[in-house]
Amino acid sequence: MKNPFIINTHSHANMLRQTNIDEAIKAAQDNKIITIVPSSTAQDIFDVDKFIHKYDNVFGYVGVFPEEAKTFSNRTLSDMENIIKNNPKIIGIGEIGLDYYWDKTYKELQKEIFIKQIDFANQMNLPINIHSRDSHGDTLDILKEHNKNSIAIMHCFSGSLEFAKECIKEGIYIALGGVVTFKNAIKAKEVAQDIPLEYLLLETDDPYLAPVPFRGKENQPVYVKYVAEYIAKLRGTTVDEIAKITTENAERIFNLNAK
Ligand code: NI
Repeated sequence: MKNPFIINTHSHANMLRQTNIDEAIKAAQDNKIITIVPSSTAQDIFDVDKFIHKYDNVFGYVGVFPEEAKTFSNRTLSDMENIIKNNPKIIGIGEIGLDYYWDKTYKELQKEIFIKQIDFANQMNLPINIHSRDSHGDTLDILKEHNKNSIAIMHCFSGSLEFAKECIKEGIYIALGGVVTFKNAIKAKEVAQDIPLEYLLLETDDPYLAPVPFRGKENQPVYVKYVAEYIAKLRGTTVDEIAKITTENAERIFNLNAK
């Protein structure tokens, strides 16, 4: 898509249930929104590969999500490599990372699989889309130690402004979604207001976390507009300005103008 309005850097558009997927993608297309869909398990890397073939304005990541670390096997990296070689619309590795919120019993396995996928992203020279929940210190430590050349994005950023600044110091990008519009999301609002726009990206993480005024309903890719509008208001600027800079950031990270 030429001159996209917004690049939604994290959307599980393939997982929509209450919304017709073709219609949701069409709504994004009508609004000149590009959507990037991550995978979660070692099996659904194949589903994401197939899914993104169907739509011009949809790209993908392959990767194994921390809570699905147990699905990762010896074959997984070679499967990912085959998909990447055959599908130029796979433009990153994700979502990968650490999640200590639900289950702390297999932290070591999560770390091991995270590191393997960082090394793999470095080899492929692709950006990484990171999920980090209740694990900020370990996530940043691992990135500092293991990530050599991949641009990293903290998806659905849930840390403090101080932590955002630490990430940015390491060249890591901050992606914000619907949470920033929630009344009680004080930290996310501070981050949205204060970080340099050159490090900001937009996302939805649909079908979860729909922004106000759709909070509690099923989220979808086009709602990224509401995230952009909200951040524009917080920063006292226009939605076009937020859209323009975040789109430039994403085009640079994913080399999208060449694709
Ligand atoms: Ni996600």
